[in-house]
Order: sequence, then C-alpha cells, then structure tokens
Amino acid sequence: MNKPINLAILGSGNGTNAQQISEYFADRDDVKVVCIIYNKKDAYIAQRAKNLGIESHYFGRNDFYVSNAVLDYLHEKQADWIILAGFLWLIPESMLQAFPNRIINIHPALLPLYGGKGMYGHHVHEAVVANHEKESGITIHIVDNNYDRGTTLFQARCTVTPDDTPDTLAEKIHLLEKEHFPRVIDRTINAR
Ligand code: GAR
Repeated sequence: MNKPINLAILGSGNGTNAQQISEYFADRDDVKVVCIIYNKKDAYIAQRAKNLGIESHYFGRNDFYVSNAVLDYLHEKQADWIILAGFLWLIPESMLQAFPNRIINIHPALLPLYGGKGMYGHHVHEAVVANHEKESGITIHIVDNNYDRGTTLFQARCTVTPDDTPDTLAEKIHLLEKEHFPRVIDRTINAR
C-alpha cells in the first residue's frame, strides 16, 4: 500500500474543526492526521488532541518566525499538507515555501468579505450582524502570502436573519464547517 497522505493541523483555540477533521479521517488508511500544533498554551485544542489520541505540540512565536522549530517538527512528522483550523497567526514565508499550495485554511465568512487582519472568529460574526447582512458563510481556500486571499476551493452560505446574534450566527457557521471542511480537504488532497 502507498504511504498515507499525512495532515498536520494547526489551531489556536477551541479545536472543534480539528476534532471533526481528525474523526472524519480516523478510520482511513490513506489519510492520517499526524499531529495537532497549537500556539496558545491554554487552548482547549490540546485537550481535544489528547482525547483523540493524536500527538500535539505547543509552539510559540519564536518557533514559527525565528527558528526552524515548527518546520523541523513538520518534516519529522512527514507532513504532506497543513490544515489551518482556527489558526490565527500569519503563516511564515518559510512554511509557504516548504508547503507550496499545500496549506488549506477555513474562514468563517464569504471572502473577500470580512477577511484580513483582525477579522477572525467572533469578530467576523459581530461585524456581519452589525452590518445587517442577509447572508454569511464559510470559505475554504489555499493559503498564500496574502492574508485570506488565496485561491478559493469552496464556499457555502447561510442566511442571517434580523434575530441572529453573533452567537447564533457562530452556531450556523460551525454547522457548515462540520458539514464541509473535512470533505473539501479529502477532495483536495486526493485530487493532487
Ligand atoms: C472557526 O470558526 C474558523 O472558521 C475560524 O476560527 C474558528 C475556530 O473554531 N477561523 C478564522 O477566523 C480564521 N481567520 P475551532 O477552534 O472551534 O475550530
């Protein structure tokens, strides 16, 4: 059998997407989640990794932007693709070069709307609700050196009603993420 396609997941927070992706691929021989990397010491994603029995590793700013610690670890784990699942730092140039067109991000809005610096997680939903938008959604895209601008792989939409709050909108977005993110990853990595 061929070597499996190895995924490294990077996250910063709660880790629901990391868990959903890991569970989706858990029974597969051809795709493996080999590690979950996080950059906030107390992030719940670390606990989820533990529960899932997946190796996890904390790396700080220096490890990403100054030394090669993260890249060395990714190579040691033989990662083929990087999946950003709620990861909130800009990806360093060295990582983009080491994984050209092999880094996938999910953004909780219909890019190019509500993207760019400072637009992440709850901030996105607050802005969408404050602007009385009629719809929002998710964008799954390839990461390049422009924040939230790489090639779009997939978008899904949901309605935003006048009753929606940032919290209820977040729930709708999480449902879309659960339904689509693992499947889009599967399709993308197997198309190469
Ligand atoms: C997700 O909604 C994801 O789309 C968003 O952060 C959340 C992480 O939730 N990502 C961004 O805003 C990236 N700019 P999770 O940690 O529970 O998966």
